[in-house]
Amino acid sequence: MVEAGLTWVRIGEFAWSRLEPQPDELNFDWLDHAIDVLGQAGLKVVLGTPTATPPRWMLDIYPDMLAVDAEGRPRGFGSRRHYCFSHAGYRDESCRITRLLAERYGDNPHVAAWQTDNEYGCHDTVLSYSLVAKVAFRRWLRARYGEIEALNTAWGNVFWSMEYREFAEIELPNLTVTEANPAHCQDFRRFSSDQVALFNRMQVQILREHSAAPIAHNYMGRVTEFDHFKTGDDLDIASWDSYPLGFLEDRVGADSAHQRAFARQGDPDFQAFHHDLYRSVGKGRWWIMEQQPGPVNWAPSNPAPLPGMVRLWSWEAFAHGAEAVCYFRWRQAPFAQEQMHAGLLRPDSVDAPALAEVRQVRDELAEAGTVTQAQAPVALIFDYEADWAWSVQPHRVGLSYFQLVFDTYRALRRAGLSVDILPPTARDFRGYRAVLAPGLMHMADALKEALAGAEAQTILGPRSGARRENFAIPVPLPPDWPGWDLTVTRVESLRADCPMSLNGGGAITGYREEIEGAGEMILALDNGAPVAMAQGNVTYLAGWCDDAALDRLVHRLCDQIGLPHLDLPQGLRCRDTAQERFWINYADQPQISPDGEVPAAGVLRVVTA
Ligand code: GAL
Repeated sequence: MVEAGLTWVRIGEFAWSRLEPQPDELNFDWLDHAIDVLGQAGLKVVLGTPTATPPRWMLDIYPDMLAVDAEGRPRGFGSRRHYCFSHAGYRDESCRITRLLAERYGDNPHVAAWQTDNEYGCHDTVLSYSLVAKVAFRRWLRARYGEIEALNTAWGNVFWSMEYREFAEIELPNLTVTEANPAHCQDFRRFSSDQVALFNRMQVQILREHSAAPIAHNYMGRVTEFDHFKTGDDLDIASWDSYPLGFLEDRVGADSAHQRAFARQGDPDFQAFHHDLYRSVGKGRWWIMEQQPGPVNWAPSNPAPLPGMVRLWSWEAFAHGAEAVCYFRWRQAPFAQEQMHAGLLRPDSVDAPALAEVRQVRDELAEAGTVTQAQAPVALIFDYEADWAWSVQPHRVGLSYFQLVFDTYRALRRAGLSVDILPPTARDFRGYRAVLAPGLMHMADALKEALAGAEAQTILGPRSGARRENFAIPVPLPPDWPGWDLTVTRVESLRADCPMSLNGGGAITGYREEIEGAGEMILALDNGAPVAMAQGNVTYLAGWCDDAALDRLVHRLCDQIGLPHLDLPQGLRCRDTAQERFWINYADQPQISPDGEVPAAGVLRVVTA
């Protein structure tokens, strides 16, 4: 590891059955030894709390600790993440094992960082319809609403005679005959997210009592069921697990031609999006905790990366501000679920192909100057609550907030713009020339006012401000923008095969709004109906634009804010740091950038300041 240039090693994150083979029978000797061996070699350890894998004996003590799926089936033992965040007994156990680790290793000089649990939310594990979740949800509702009447009013329970007489009557929003009340569903989403934050916070508090080392969690790609900003508030570092080929087929949302073109490289924007998102979640401090080094085992198909991609992914992360890039895993395990998951070493401990690229990155890092981040010219707001609201009420099968934001992000990147992602709690937009807030279904008044008062050009819609916090349609009707007489008068969703074309190019797909009011017409349908209207520094977008329409909008934006739009070809992307422009080429052939040729699956660094 040392010879290959690695500096950090994460261990222990699933090791509970070895740490505690029987209840209260502890064995830390092997971990003492492992930490010592790594530390003596000069490696720094990230020690994981093992709570993503409670051992089998835990179920004898707490048979009801398993999460329950929406169909009412327990999510059984035999893999991982088999716990319900609301189970108080398991939460105590998770605190107990965390305390034992913290006490033993809190001042161990080799333990230089911690990781709580492992990938909260992975394998659909945030929402649990267990009995303990129901009891905790009722308690959460009582704390939120105080009186049952307040809840009935907020949810609109007069509809369909859904009124409750007491909190104890409220069920979880599964197993209903037809759809449950969206306000009920959205509160259940909020509650479930809070349970994740609470579970994490309890571990963090214990670790901090015993250790000064920074604490991270390893988030996942396109896991949106809990509010990472809120969980991240308790942590020092946001990290995420980057599997570019693993994500390509079922998380990116691209068509099959695109997937074919990038089958061995991954989507050219998906990693960057998460780098920017987690840079924000970590308030500037973020890592890759797991970087795919070769074929994995879990995606629909699992090809090997093109030569050069492991290096490219590593450099792309550094260009977006990563403090560390760690690879998963060191040696391919010859047994169990991930026996077909590549490591940096083969199962026989011979170098796997990625290791040579890791060595190359080691050498390049030794030569390279520090990469310093700069504020991007453009900000994009990402709101986990909006993602839940869209999934509670998509209005058409398959419409997703994540996809809407990601489509917008890709358009910005096609134009060559670097992007900062901001939480919905952002109020200070100084330094940004443009702020985009697509699909933000509920917008706090303070956010509206901050944006209305900002100097940045703002792009809203579709569906921005479409709901109150309690999921009611606001009156006056959306977007109800300060000082702008603009109204969304009707909304419709469109069949996938029925896009509506725009006058001058591009189309609306999937979702459309009819709008009325004052303002400059920016985009219109062929029949003249407005699709984008602007007034002052605000543009409202009344539909889900395809790529061509988004490009038109972004080009206009670039002209307004005085930045060139580069119109980058497929696969070629750039990222500006304080002193450099990084050209990243995901294509399997060289491409020409304004700064020169960028090799296939390669990177070009250009000093700009
Ligand atoms: C991550 C996880 C690792 C390993 C890896 C496989 O989801 O944190 O433990 O399972 O994926 O790619």
